[in-house]
Amino acid sequence: MRFALEPLLEAQQVADLRMELLAEADAWRPGVETAGWHARTVKNNRQLDRGSALQGQLTPRVVEPLLRHPLVQSAVLPVRVHGLLFSRSGPGEGYGRHVDNAFMAEGRSDLSFTLFLSDPCEYEGGALVLESPATEEALRLPAGHALLYPSTLLHRVAPVTQGERLVAVGWIQSRVRDAEQRELLFELDTARRALFRQEGKSDVFDLISRSYTNLMRRWGE
Ligand code: NI
Repeated sequence: MRFALEPLLEAQQVADLRMELLAEADAWRPGVETAGWHARTVKNNRQLDRGSALQGQLTPRVVEPLLRHPLVQSAVLPVRVHGLLFSRSGPGEGYGRHVDNAFMAEGRSDLSFTLFLSDPCEYEGGALVLESPATEEALRLPAGHALLYPSTLLHRVAPVTQGERLVAVGWIQSRVRDAEQRELLFELDTARRALFRQEGKSDVFDLISRSYTNLMRRWGE
């Protein structure tokens, strides 16, 4: 299951992030430095130095709204958001087909996300392309919107042909490793919340809540 947060950040928050990121010309490094051994061969972008003071300052401004978002809480069941990278790609830059590493310094990658910090009218190309066995989807979301997708997918960033694409990317470790189990829990949670709105804390609500909670106990870690 992939889904978009529309938006995750308001226009002013995006404008502030952009201004601070682009003002720091010396803090950008070749993206290849943080790629795994096979992804190195296809990664061609620039990233904010993860050790920079600016990275430390800006990270909570992406991570906190993500963790607070009701859809993330219900559909992703996050343990933590980790590995945040601010990335920029100009003409000729992109990131070829790869799969994200399963384990990173701060956790397992169950979901990957891209928060778009440029509007689609500011650059050409640069679509995030998600591959599944039968189809592929090319996505360019408005600035402030975030796309979350299973880290199990092969994906790529098409080469930028004009302008500049600025994004934040990162990973989420979920309490529930299996995507199908997460989806079942999300549906049950959505149903019990709708029921609660209709009839309050009824006997049926209590039964569904019990099932939800006990499945979490069984599947969660
Ligand atoms: Ni990736």
